[in-house]
This record gives sequence, structure tokens and C-alpha cells, in this order.
Amino acid sequence: MKVLVIGSGGREHALTWKLAQSPRITRMWVAPGNAGTREERLSGSGDPVENVSLAADDLPGLLDWSRIHQPDFIVVGPDNPLALGIVDRFREAGFRIWGPNQKAARFESSKAFSQEFMQRHGIPTARAASFTDPAQARRFCDELQGQCAVKADGLALGKGVVVTSDPASAHRAVDEMLVRGAFGNAGSHIVIQERLHGREVSLHALTDGSCYRLFPTSQDHKRIQDGDQGPNTGGMGTYSPAPFLSDEELSRVGAAILDPWLRGCRAEGIDFRGLIYPGVMLTVDGPRVIEFNARFGDPETQVYLTRLENDLLDLLEACVEGTLGQHALRWSPNASVCVVAASAGYPGTSPKGKPIEGLAGAARLPGVKVFHAGTALQDGRVVTNGGRVLGVTATAGTLAEARDRAYEAVATIAFDGMQYRRDIAAQALQHHAPTA
Ligand code: AMP
Ligand code: GLY
Repeated sequence: MKVLVIGSGGREHALTWKLAQSPRITRMWVAPGNAGTREERLSGSGDPVENVSLAADDLPGLLDWSRIHQPDFIVVGPDNPLALGIVDRFREAGFRIWGPNQKAARFESSKAFSQEFMQRHGIPTARAASFTDPAQARRFCDELQGQCAVKADGLALGKGVVVTSDPASAHRAVDEMLVRGAFGNAGSHIVIQERLHGREVSLHALTDGSCYRLFPTSQDHKRIQDGDQGPNTGGMGTYSPAPFLSDEELSRVGAAILDPWLRGCRAEGIDFRGLIYPGVMLTVDGPRVIEFNARFGDPETQVYLTRLENDLLDLLEACVEGTLGQHALRWSPNASVCVVAASAGYPGTSPKGKPIEGLAGAARLPGVKVFHAGTALQDGRVVTNGGRVLGVTATAGTLAEARDRAYEAVATIAFDGMQYRRDIAAQALQHHAPTA
């Protein structure tokens, strides 16, 4: 089978690496991929994965290319092409493509839709309302005494959320979005949620529109600096499993969110086939969904796929075919930790083209897999090509060992301006400490 993966981040490298292990795949491309994806080899034939230089949101280009090369199955990584309706376009053209259609992708592309859906279907979430009028929005901020999360409705590269703790800063966030148009169209409609407190966990579930299969827990670290300081990023590191929910609690929380979600989708004629990723805050009053994403998390994918024992191609095909009910997910009992190495300046603008040293040495360490994100090949050398550069991932029998190995690998890698958090999974280890 010939497979095309769309995207270029760490998530897509992890998807490519895992799919390449499927013995059924005879040829594989990634558009546009990165310096890591083109290093992967198909386990069946030993042939290399090929990068195709087309951007993930170049829908006409990808469609033309696919008409020539005829991939049998297409996997979409990022949110943007999903929001643009890539799945609808490719299905109409007769391709088998994995991911939610445009209507279903609204769970991520419109926070107002998502919030109102949760309220309609009794999914536990924050107190919230959506606004286009700044005066009404400010009044709601005052009702919440400034304890708010002010969110642009549309996709804003993970930057469209401002969490505030006083009315003046909440008003400023409202004005930035609704009056000054800081996020353009994405912010002409906003959602304001009450500010919640608690631990944040990432849930992932594959779904074929009639059933879902929940993944184990993972936790991301969204702020740039240790101790959750500094601005939000796309995610600076993850680990799985997260110790804050037992297996029993996880399935209870999963059901409390996903059972009404799936029923709601059916009732509203939303045929979601893909991966649904609720961001959940574990508050003293119980779990609350703060957002939905309609794709695999990045860098959650890196820790999940290094633990997944199934053939990923089987599962993704089952989502598209509506046969997911025939599959059970199998997970390695090992823990996995991913530490993101980012460029200087990230999450602001960062330089490109800095040579990366030490990749080969890191790859030789046991249990370590270095997933590339913003990398490119320049004159035969791997160089930086974006904000998040690498996801250094390690698996081992315990979380502590996995963490040590991941940091051992990070220490062997260097590029000019490299920054990373030193405390990925640290809270989880402290959480274990009293019972250890
Ligand atoms: P989102 O993109 O909606 O997940 O928001 C980005 C980040 O803002 C989340 O990862 C949280 O850390 C924070 N956040 C979002 N909503 C809330 C909320 N209602 N209360 C507190 N923090 C929030
Ligand atoms: N890990 C955060 C995200 O994928 O949105």
C-alpha cells in the first residue's frame, strides 16, 4: 500500500516512523516532511520514506500530486488543512484519507462552536459564553471578577488564549481581540471561560464516528520556561502515562466526556472519523474540558506512538472504514518522555539554518528516538528550520528512567541558541514520591 502523510512537525515524524513499521506499506511519502522523516525506512522493503516539497495547506498542489502518484491512503497531521476541508476535497476526488471532514474539524477550528456544543450536550466544561460585542464581553469578564480565559474563536497557532486574574487585564485581552483585531478574523468572535485551576491532562481518542478508543493519559508542558513560567508555546515536552488519574478514573473521565460528545455528534449529523483530543483540567469539582483539538497532539504523539503496540495503519484505516469496534488498543507498560529542543526566541520569531550537532550519538542511546520537527537538510547537514526543532523521546521501564534517558540524549545534542525545559515529567515524579 502507498501512503502519504501530510505535515512537517514532530507529530508527523512520529506518525511516519510508526506507520513505516507496518509491513503492508510498500511506498511512503511525507509532504513536506523534515530532515528526520526522509531518514526513515519502511520495515517491509527497507526503502526510504520520500519527502515531497508541497506545503500541508497547499490543497490544490497536494491534489494534483496525488492524482499523479495515487496514494492508497492519506494521513493528515496538522489542524490547518483539516480546517480548510482537505478531507472533503480528497474524498470527493476518490481518495481514502484519514482525518475529520471540515464540519467535524470545527471542534478545533471554532472554539465558540465547540463551547456551545459542550453546553448543548452536557459535556463537563468551564462556565463560558461567546461574544462579538466588546461591551458585552467586558461585562461577562466583570461577572467573573477578571478570572478569565479569553480565547479567539479561530485557529491562532496556539497563541489565541489569554488567561487573566483581574478585570483590567481581561478587558485588555477582549479589546486586543475584538477592537484591535490582533488575531484578524480568528479573533472577531471570542469565547470567555471562567479561569479554572488544577492539573491539565491531554486525552486522545481515535473514533470512527460510531465508537471511540481512548488512549492512556499524557501531560504536555505548554509554557516555555521551567516551573510553567513565561508565554504559552505549542508544547515543550510530554510524558505518558500521567500518574494523576488511575486507569479506572481515566475511563470514567473519558466516558463522562466522550459518551455525550459522540452522542451529540450523531444527533447533529457530525461524522467525526479521526482523533479527538480534549484538553482537560482536573479541578476540585471534577474534570472540565477547556478545549477540543481535532488531530493528534504535538508533542503528545511522540510519547503515545512510542508506547503503542498496534499497527497504526490498521487503526487509522479502521477509523475511515467504520470498523474501529473490531480493534483493541495495546500499549507497552513502559513510560515515555519527550523533551522538546527549541530555537532561540521561540515562541517568538527564531533564526533558522543553525547546524545541529550530536544527532547520531543521541540516536545510539538505548530506548531513545529523536523526532525531528523544525529541521531541514542544507548542503548535506541537518539544520534548524523552525521554533520547535526536535522532540527527544525516550522509553523505559519507569518514568524516572525514561526521563533520565531523554535528558542524557538532549545533553549530547547542540545547536546555536538551543533551549529546552529541564523539568519535563518532574511533577509526575514528585506526585509518586509519597507512595514510592
Ligand atoms: P487552549 O488552547 O484553549 O487549550 O488554551 C491554552 C492554554 O491556556 C491551556 O493549555 C491552559 O493552560 C490555559 N487555559 C485555557 N483555558 C483555561 C481556563 N478556562 N482556565 C485556566 N487556564 C486555561
Ligand atoms: N500539545 C498541544 C497541542 O498539540 O495542541
